[in-house]
This record gives sequence, structure tokens and C-alpha cells, in this order.
Amino acid sequence: MISKKMEKAINDQIKWEFYSGYLYLSMAAYFEDLGLPGFAKWMEAQTQEELFHGMKMYRYLVGQGGRVNLQAVDAPKPGWDSPLAAFEDALAHEKKVTKRIHDLVDLAQKEKDHATNIFLHWFVSEQVEEEAGVGEVVNKLKLVGEGGGLFLLDQELGARVFTPPAAKE
Ligand code: FEO
Repeated sequence: MISKKMEKAINDQIKWEFYSGYLYLSMAAYFEDLGLPGFAKWMEAQTQEELFHGMKMYRYLVGQGGRVNLQAVDAPKPGWDSPLAAFEDALAHEKKVTKRIHDLVDLAQKEKDHATNIFLHWFVSEQVEEEAGVGEVVNKLKLVGEGGGLFLLDQELGARVFTPPAAKE
């Protein structure tokens, strides 16, 4: 049986994952408004990934006999100054999420909760990929600037499709 402390920490993280999805959906809407449908599609796929993360935690908590308590999800920012500013915000956000996941691992170890500790390893690896994926786009945006390269990058990002991780394994 999961401890109340761990249960609360995972409930807080479920909210963060859904907030992440909301934030990226707001970025998708911003890119649609800019006329960059490929960037928007990339952000939509990112949103789906975050909802998957939230549901993975939800299912784990239920499976451990814990109680899911859904919290209010904050409103994300509605717009950014440039595509680069949006992606830099996304990278800063992912770094915060990584820190939160590491704090959860620390707590699971402190609580001697081996099951949760192992469960969280998936998220530790996932965050490495998340930061790398967003960081790659930040670097490309810095290279292409505001010119025609943005159009080509839009086409490249538009090829992204969300594949549920379970289907990949
Ligand atoms: Fe759920 Fe982007 O971390």
C-alpha cells in the first residue's frame, strides 16, 4: 500500500502532467495563429504525450490502491513573442518537470517505496528524451532565425506523430 505522502506527491505530479499538456496545447494554438501548422502539429503531439504521462501516473496510483485526487489545472500563457521564445519556455518547463521527477524518486527512496521507485525510472529516462527533443528544436530555431528557414522547419516538425510508448515496446 502506497504511503499518504507518496500518494499526495503523485497526485501533485498528475496535475503537473496535465498542466504540461495544457501549456503545449496553448503553444499549438499560438503556432496555428502564426500560420505555422507544422509547429502546431508538433505541439499537439507533445500535448498527447503529456496526457499519456498523466494517465500513466493515474493508473499506477489506482493499481497501488491509492486515491486519485484531481486538482484544478492552471491556465497556461496564451501567447509568446516568437517561436523561439515559445520553445525556450517549453525547455525551461521540461527542466522543471525533470527536477520534480527527481524529487519524487528521492521521496520514494526515503519512504523505502521500492515499487514507486522502479515505476519512476521510466519517467527519469523519458525526461532525458523530453529535454533533448525540445532542446533540438530550440537549437534549430536559433540557426534558422526568422527567415525562410522557418518554413522548412515547419514542414519538418509537421512530420511528428504521437506514438503511445507502450506500442513502441
Ligand atoms: Fe511529462 Fe514533458 O514531461
